[in-house]
Amino acid sequence: MSDTSVSPVESAAMRRALALAARGPVHGPNPQVGCVLLGPTGSVLGEGWHRGAGTAHAEVAALRDAGARGVDVRGGTAVVTLEPCNHIGRTGPCAVALADAGVARVLYAVPDPSARAGGGAEYLRSHGVDAVGGHLRPAGEQLLRVWLQAIRSGRPFVTLKIASSLDGRVAATDGTSRWITSGEARAHAHLLRGRVDAIAIGSGTMLADDPSLTARTPSGEPVGHQPLRVVVGHTEVPAGARLRAPGGELVALRTHDPHEVMAALAAREVRHVLVEGGPVLSTALLRAGVVDEVHAYVAPVLLGSGSTNVGDLGIGTISDALRLDVHQVLHLGPDVLLVGTPSSADATVSAGGGRASLGTPSASTSASSSTVQREEN
Ligand SMILES: NC(=O)c1ccc[n+]([C@@H]2O[C@H](COP(=O)([O-])OP(=O)(O)OC[C@H]3O[C@@H](n4cnc5c(N)ncnc54)[C@H](OP(=O)(O)O)[C@@H]3O)[C@@H](O)[C@H]2O)c1
Repeated sequence: MSDTSVSPVESAAMRRALALAARGPVHGPNPQVGCVLLGPTGSVLGEGWHRGAGTAHAEVAALRDAGARGVDVRGGTAVVTLEPCNHIGRTGPCAVALADAGVARVLYAVPDPSARAGGGAEYLRSHGVDAVGGHLRPAGEQLLRVWLQAIRSGRPFVTLKIASSLDGRVAATDGTSRWITSGEARAHAHLLRGRVDAIAIGSGTMLADDPSLTARTPSGEPVGHQPLRVVVGHTEVPAGARLRAPGGELVALRTHDPHEVMAALAAREVRHVLVEGGPVLSTALLRAGVVDEVHAYVAPVLLGSGSTNVGDLGIGTISDALRLDVHQVLHLGPDVLLVGTPSSADATVSAGGGRASLGTPSASTSASSSTVQREEN
């Protein structure tokens, strides 16, 4: 598509649609999508965004808004951040809704990569609608980067969180590890908990720390959305474990195979999983090449001995080191957060040593502030 075919009014509408999309929830199986309906003269006839699985898609929400305003959308243009879907899921196909409403043109930013829902543009064209894709696509892809990665890879986007001392330790020799990082760092990490679909740990962390794995506000109140709480390993979750207290659904995955973990989470429509250790699980995921982003909270604390944040990755020489492309560095009180993507997409650390390839795109996180300690649980 050439952007010369897009008018300034349509371009402004796409920016508005992106802003509307961002109002939708970042968690859940569905993407954030926004839509603006323009009349033939460029007036705004309706606006909508997707509020989460089971609710109206952005296009349908915009058509309803136009209906509520009592305006006719026939001959108009739908400006939407993602290619309209072409399948009947929890709701009907948006491509059909737009064509049936008599819209003459559809301008979208990001083509829908999903095998199930894609093909909306083709449907629209075959029904006489001028469907044009790719306008402001980088902004659309940035907004949807986690969802797009999950759909393209067929597994959840994996964020690996590590909270460690300056010498890479996650626990002291006696196994104590609470509060390596500061309250500020832990509060920051909680922001991400509230944005993901699942939080995963290995059973070693469950036994050592008895974490609750809930998403909480800085004052300790549970937030509205509670992600699934996932424990990987063969050990039974103890009867009195905090993981059994109120919070997200508890999911025990009795496997050591990272790919089985990914498949089980994908089957539950988990698009984004936050892995909070410990070292054995983190190492297995890194070796399997399924880590998309690392959030490393580093405290200015030295332990000298104790478990390190990752184990043997099979790397024998420095040229095979698994490097991160760091795209964010944040000071959180005395601590530092590094957010990075394992370099060389789709890398897998081979069992015999050396790195074949690693995986994924990336981007940011949020706010600010302070101290180093072990991750709060
Ligand atoms: N600073 C931090 O951010 C941080 C975060 C988390 C943990 N920690 C600390 O780390 C320590 C626990 O370390 P850890 O490495 O034992 O914890 P872990 O990785 O959470 O758990 C390891 C256990 O998970 C199971 N498991 C899952 N996937 C596996 C795989 N691919 N291969 C082998 N086993 C697998 C095994 O248990 P089964 O026998 O049940 O199968 C294994 O013993 C604690 O001291 C904890 O406080 C620190």
